[in-house]
Amino acid sequence: MAARRAPALGPLLLLLLPPVLLPPVRAGAGDARQEQAVQALARRLLGPRAAAVALSVDAALAEDGTGTDTYWLRSPPGAAVAVAVTGSSGVAAAAGLYRYLRDFCGCHVSWSGAQLRLPDPLPRLRAEIRAAAPGRYRYYQNVCTQSYSFAWWDWARWEREIDWMALSGINLALAFVGQEATWQRVYRSLGLNQTDIDEYFTGPAFLAWNRMGNLHGWAGPLPPAWHLKQRYLQYRIVERMRSLGMLTVLPAFAGYVPQGVLRVFPRVNATRLGGWSHFDCTYSCTYLLDPQDPMFQVIGTLFLKELIKEFGTDHIYSADTFNEMTPLSSDPAYLSRVSNAVFRSMTGADPKALWLMQGWLFQHQPEFWQPAQARALLRGVPLGRMIVLDLFAESKPVYQWTESFYGQPFIWCMLHSFGGNHGLFGTVEAINHGPFAARRFPNSTMVGTGVVPEGIEQNDMVYELMNELGWRHEPLDLPRWVTRYAERRYGAPNAATAGAWRLLLRSVYNCTGVCVNHNRSPLVRRPSLHMDTELWYNASDVYEAWRLLLRASAELGSSTTFRYDLVDVTRQAAQQLVSGFYQSIRSAFQSHALPELLTAGGVLLYDLLPELDSLLCSHSLFLLGRWLESARAVATSDREAEQYELNARNQLTLWGPSGNILDYANKQLGGLVLDYYSVRWSLFVSMLVESLNSSSPFHQDQFNQAAFQVERGFVYNKKRYPAVPAGDTLEIARKMFLKYYPSARAGTL
Ligand SMILES: *[C@@H]1O[C@H](CO)[C@@H](O)[C@H](O)[C@H]1NC(C)=O
Ligand SMILES: *[C@@H]1O[C@H](CO)[C@@H](O)[C@H](O)[C@H]1NC(C)=O
Ligand SMILES: *[C@@H]1O[C@H](CO)[C@@H](O)[C@H](O)[C@H]1NC(C)=O
Ligand SMILES: *[C@@H]1O[C@H](CO)[C@@H](O)[C@H](O)[C@H]1NC(C)=O
Ligand SMILES: *[C@@H]1O[C@H](CO)[C@@H](O)[C@H](O)[C@H]1NC(C)=O
Ligand SMILES: *[C@@H]1O[C@H](CO)[C@@H](O)[C@H](O)[C@H]1NC(C)=O
Repeated sequence: MAARRAPALGPLLLLLLPPVLLPPVRAGAGDARQEQAVQALARRLLGPRAAAVALSVDAALAEDGTGTDTYWLRSPPGAAVAVAVTGSSGVAAAAGLYRYLRDFCGCHVSWSGAQLRLPDPLPRLRAEIRAAAPGRYRYYQNVCTQSYSFAWWDWARWEREIDWMALSGINLALAFVGQEATWQRVYRSLGLNQTDIDEYFTGPAFLAWNRMGNLHGWAGPLPPAWHLKQRYLQYRIVERMRSLGMLTVLPAFAGYVPQGVLRVFPRVNATRLGGWSHFDCTYSCTYLLDPQDPMFQVIGTLFLKELIKEFGTDHIYSADTFNEMTPLSSDPAYLSRVSNAVFRSMTGADPKALWLMQGWLFQHQPEFWQPAQARALLRGVPLGRMIVLDLFAESKPVYQWTESFYGQPFIWCMLHSFGGNHGLFGTVEAINHGPFAARRFPNSTMVGTGVVPEGIEQNDMVYELMNELGWRHEPLDLPRWVTRYAERRYGAPNAATAGAWRLLLRSVYNCTGVCVNHNRSPLVRRPSLHMDTELWYNASDVYEAWRLLLRASAELGSSTTFRYDLVDVTRQAAQQLVSGFYQSIRSAFQSHALPELLTAGGVLLYDLLPELDSLLCSHSLFLLGRWLESARAVATSDREAEQYELNARNQLTLWGPSGNILDYANKQLGGLVLDYYSVRWSLFVSMLVESLNSSSPFHQDQFNQAAFQVERGFVYNKKRYPAVPAGDTLEIARKMFLKYYPSARAGTL
């Protein structure tokens, strides 16, 4: 990152965004409180070594009037500390601290672990560094992350995440936890009874889609203890975020209501929408209140007032009225009325309200959202009072065909992950260039960058890269960056790991064009004879990266981040191998070659899948038991534990009562591979064998029915899975390598 000042925002942007309409970046907490918060963060991260770094916060550092976060690093001569870091906010100071740790100490902090072996003494800087962020915001979180990743988190896990957010320089994030407690209070005060409410809320693993009006009731209801615990968490989350100078985004009313509202207020004008995705009206078809109905303002304002009373506010609110939902009318006047009503329900509670909206709808249903419709929805809100997340900007940027959201400010976001699947993936070229191009776009209204994965704890590299880019004024040299990344991640320069990462960079991480990171590997899909095995990269690059990582394992095997990556790359290689065996099985079946079918099926079922499962079981971050036990840990009774575990299992697999969004949120976890994917594969292979042996056709629908029983069987089996790893990662990975690499390289699977 060049130590240079942020360019001033374009004059037009200043016109659109009078400073008074944008809340101050300094979320309420004064310099002293932010300073204490970032100092405490440093102590959590570095222990006693934190004493060698002086951290301070001085809002005046962002003196140029654009208000963008700035940090200043220097090593004062003769000072007791090695380095002094001043930030214009707690977040800016934390980002400055991470800059120092990253670029001068060779350290790394990520979801899968930290590498914090500090040089002793800490290096001093030869020249001071002053860096200003290129835009106002660095945003984090997708509304779905709440369910795919955060659903079962306790405060310890939240605390780690908020620390990571601050180090990454994130200054704007959702604070969505526990909102159902407030909703319940509001609906009860309006006269709905507990039955009405219990029929509405989904279970914890599906709340994201309840909040967006997609689902109701599925895997619910929410027990009273759930509300209590989530509220407590929310208090701590908003307190910590604000103390670091982050802006919290609170949820607001999008117009969806429980059916009970119609019972209590029979004359309200609400329309029942159609089913969402593959759900019928049992759990979908939510009621949308007509924005013109006076009740809309009553409910929206009441909810926000209650929420603000309880948690305070930074004046930014999130609501998504038409997320994957077709509006009742395409009349621009109607669409403007809807967005205006949503906005007014916010200003009714907070005159300074700013609406943060996901821009997913525009690219999800582009045939509906023609320029006139998009413009009407966006301009129903005064200019500068809405921030749009250009949610999938790395693949399908919306700002380009909407004249930069018709003047509303927007944040260039990297979505990257759908369903939080495992699978190495990245669009490094798009993220390395996209934000800079968006800023140069004529009359651009871009006000920042964001990371909005549906699920986290995967592909650390991509997030580290994007977070660094959020502070840069120009793209970086990717191969050089990734070489240094490998060095920092494992705590030592190493030719083999540098080579491995360069191969990964140019292959799995370099998806170009419209790339959707949804793992479609045959491994994690319900098998059929028509599965796609196409890859966007050269599979050999992954096998070679695997070889190189293993070569470094003697030297780096004690590094936790190295072991994580060794599991992850071996897992990716295994996923490619499964595709190879699938192709062998399919061609053997099609050419009526029973022995070949038995051989390929046998290796897949009795060797590869069990080996993959034991590899995953050897690492704590790849355990099914970890996910399930974290769900159970939230419970206050056996009944709750059972309900939460069902939620957790269903989300990974059937996603709905009958496989409605089957395997969307698939994960490659130890326990799940063996007891779910592998059992399903076994059924597939045996039905193919039976079909060949008896010369009768293979019926996909018969298989699907039988597979559904397997899938359902997994969701409801009562088996407990260990939440602690077992087995030697290095040993298992090496054995797999020796067994499969030769034929993988020769392409003779
Ligand atoms: C809520 O009201 C409905 C309709 O009157 C009724 O059937 C239901 O039993 C009530 N539930 C409770 C908990 O009172
Ligand atoms: C009810 O709402 C719909 C759409 O929101 C609108 O078209 C209709 O005119 C409204 N009906 C009344 C009686 O206001
Ligand atoms: C940018 O805005 C100016 C002033 O409103 C306008 O004249 C010009 O046409 C716009 N340029 C583009 C490419 O939209
Ligand atoms: C990614 O692929 C494109 C071509 O598809 C190439 O131009 C570019 O150099 C590659 N980037 C990296 C980092 O390998
Ligand atoms: C694929 O990758 C392998 C190993 O890295 C390399 O030898 C080969 O040339 C690559 N093939 C293509 C078509 O790029
Ligand atoms: C094929 O069918 C025969 C006769 O039913 C049976 O004995 C044999 O075990 C079958 N072979 C396989 C591989 O299923």
